[in-house]
Formats: sequence, structure tokens, C-alpha cells
Amino acid sequence: MLSLANIKAARDRIKPVIRQTPLRYSDRFSELTDASIYLKLENIQRTGAFKLRGAMNRIATLSEADRSGGVITASAGNHAQGVAFAATRAGVDSKIVMPTHAPVSKRQSTERYGGEVILHGEDYDAAQQRAHEIADTEDRYYLHAFDDQAVMAGQGTIGLEILDACPSVETVVVPIGGGGLISGIATAIKAQKPDVRVIGVQAEGAASAPPSLAADELQSIDSAETIADGIATRQIGAQPFEILQSHVDEVVTVSDSEIAVAITYLLEREKTLTEGAGAAALAAVLHDRFSFADNEVIVPALCGGNIDMNQLTTVLLRGLVETGRYLRIHTILEDYPGALEELVAILAAYDANIYAINHNRTSRTVSMEKADVEIELETMGPTHIESLLEALREDGFEVEVLDWV
Ligand SMILES: Cc1ncc(COP(=O)(O)O)c(C=O)c1O
Repeated sequence: MLSLANIKAARDRIKPVIRQTPLRYSDRFSELTDASIYLKLENIQRTGAFKLRGAMNRIATLSEADRSGGVITASAGNHAQGVAFAATRAGVDSKIVMPTHAPVSKRQSTERYGGEVILHGEDYDAAQQRAHEIADTEDRYYLHAFDDQAVMAGQGTIGLEILDACPSVETVVVPIGGGGLISGIATAIKAQKPDVRVIGVQAEGAASAPPSLAADELQSIDSAETIADGIATRQIGAQPFEILQSHVDEVVTVSDSEIAVAITYLLEREKTLTEGAGAAALAAVLHDRFSFADNEVIVPALCGGNIDMNQLTTVLLRGLVETGRYLRIHTILEDYPGALEELVAILAAYDANIYAINHNRTSRTVSMEKADVEIELETMGPTHIESLLEALREDGFEVEVLDWV
């Protein structure tokens, strides 16, 4: 069983290479939640995620025979980068099987760190199966992303850092994919301060931990669909599951929309870029997924920052929609000069800035003396949207809301 001693030994081993990441108090999120929020900024770890810690510790403890045969692993992205970086640094050859649709940025970085990328399958589980086949045929060491004691010990060094930097911590919130990260952190924390709560977070579309805990045995789900690709796994590991059962106080879930809002807020209010999995812990706090007291000292682990820029565009737009900062409406106008101006005058009076407007007189869905109009607007929040819609409707415009919740 993973122990505090394993984690402390891992810390000494990986110290020369990994960054001891900052724990930063957030005025904005503390204000918003009435708690004391300290963000563990693991998104600025080398390679952009905590995975380097576990991979370094595993490779450092391999036998000479295993090192010389090379390593192989499967990963949706961050473990891939951690393994490629750690292996190359240790002079070990690495192959990484990634799901076919793994984010381009993660694929490219893995190659840049010296790993050979093999694309295979729809998701992590399919990639993992292929990686095991290659491990068997090429006699490579299979470096598991989470179901491995040395990997969990490496991830657990984050728990040591949190306790060192913030001895008054009361609750630590950690995303769960395969469960390696939370296992390490929970072991490090509970061994020293058993009263500190450890809360796990999964994405609603990839939540195998709650049913597993309820059934008291590992359950796997049929699909794992979430924007948080780092935690899109169908099943947690056997060893992490045991630690989850004994050391984790509660596991909660968050929706993709809630994750998108957390990413948006982190960028806007903290100037901090995270990927979906990296924002999941904060999303759980912001959306009250577990109960906490006023002024409670809470540390959400922002465990990764590797987000594809294309995905970021989509996520930010979703975040703006969810927070009422973007509105798309449709209406039908009489087709006479000045009709559009009347509509725009109301938008201007309500300070709703226009991103784009599409005025279509040739639409076959409306009669010939009308025009079909779609407008994208920059808005200031839900209250602003409600009053704007009310004003438009009071003036006789039949408005259909296309994007807003
Ligand atoms: C950014 C990020 N957060 C959290 C996790 C979950 O870690 P674990 O699989 O150890 O639970 C991952 C896993 O890849 C990740 O990349």
C-alpha cells in the first residue's frame, strides 16, 4: 500500500527536475464563495501538468533491464508528455499510444519531448489496449498512467507541497481520471492531517467513481465524454480505488458547462490558463458541489494547463454564453427602410454591443415583405439579458433566443 514514506522518497528523487508550484490566494474566488480559496498552480508545472511527477518517479525507480528495453504507455495527453520528458531526460526510449482524437497540442508536445507517438482508438481505454499489445511484442516496460505505486507516489508530492505551503488547509479538491493523482495527494495529506477533507471531482460524462463507491466495487462506464479530456476515463484503477475508499471523503461531479465557466473565470479573474481537467476542482467549488463553511480554507488543484487553442475558443464562447456575456437572437422584421434601425436603437439604448448581424431578405422561411435577422451580442450578464429581451418584446419584436441558457 502506498505510504507517506514512498511519497517523501519520491519528492527527493524528482526535486531536481520538477517545479515546486505556487499556492496562490485568490481574492476573487474567495469573495465569490465566502471561503478562503488557495489555488495550487500545477498548470504551470513543466510539461504543463502534474503528470511529470509520477513519470519521473517511476522511471527513476526502474531496473536497468527495464530502462534499456524502453517504456511504453497510453495517454490522452498529459501523461504522454510527462513520460516523454522524463524518459528522454533519463536516456530511456519512449513510445506513447494516444487516442486518435487527442488534442493536437498534446500530440505535438509529446513528440517535441522525444516520445514516439502512435495514434490508436477512440478513447483512452482503446489506446491502452494497443499499448499493452506493443509492450508484449516489443518487451517494453508498460508505464501505467495511474495504477502504479511509484506513479501515485510522484503525484502525492503535490499533497506534501500543499501542507507545507498552507498548514491551515481544511479541504483539498482534486480531479479524478484514473485516480492516481487523488490517491497520492490523499495519502500524503491523511497521513499527516487526517482531519483535512479530500474531495474528488469527476466530469458528469465520465463519472465511474460514484457508482463504484456506491457498489463497493469497481464499475466501468460505457463511454467517457467530456471537454476535460485529462479525466475522460471509463474506469478508475484498482489500486487508486482502494485508496479512494479509505482516504477520500467525498466524490462529486461537475458538468462540462460548469467546467467551461471555471476556465473562463480563471482566465478573466486570475489570468490563469487551465485545461478542462485543470479547472474541474474549482468548478466544483464555484457551483457548490459540496458543502463548506464560511472562511473555510479550500485548495482546488489546478492540475493541468494544456488546452488546445481551438478547443479554448469553443470553451470560452460556451463560458460567455453560460455567464450571460454572449447572446444570439433571431427575429423577423418588416422589410422597410429603417426597420433594422429601430431594432438596433434598442440594442444601443441597452448598451448591448453587436458582434455580428445577419439581415436576410431572401430567406425562404419568411414572406417576401419580411426579413430574417440573426444578431450576436456582447451582453453584461443574466440581468442585462432579461431586461434587454423585455424591452425588445415590449416594442413588438418577436425575439427567439438562440444561444443563452
Ligand atoms: C490535467 C489532469 N488533471 C487530472 C487528471 C487525473 O489524474 P488521474 O488519472 O491520476 O486521476 C489528469 C490525468 O491525465 C490530467 O491530465
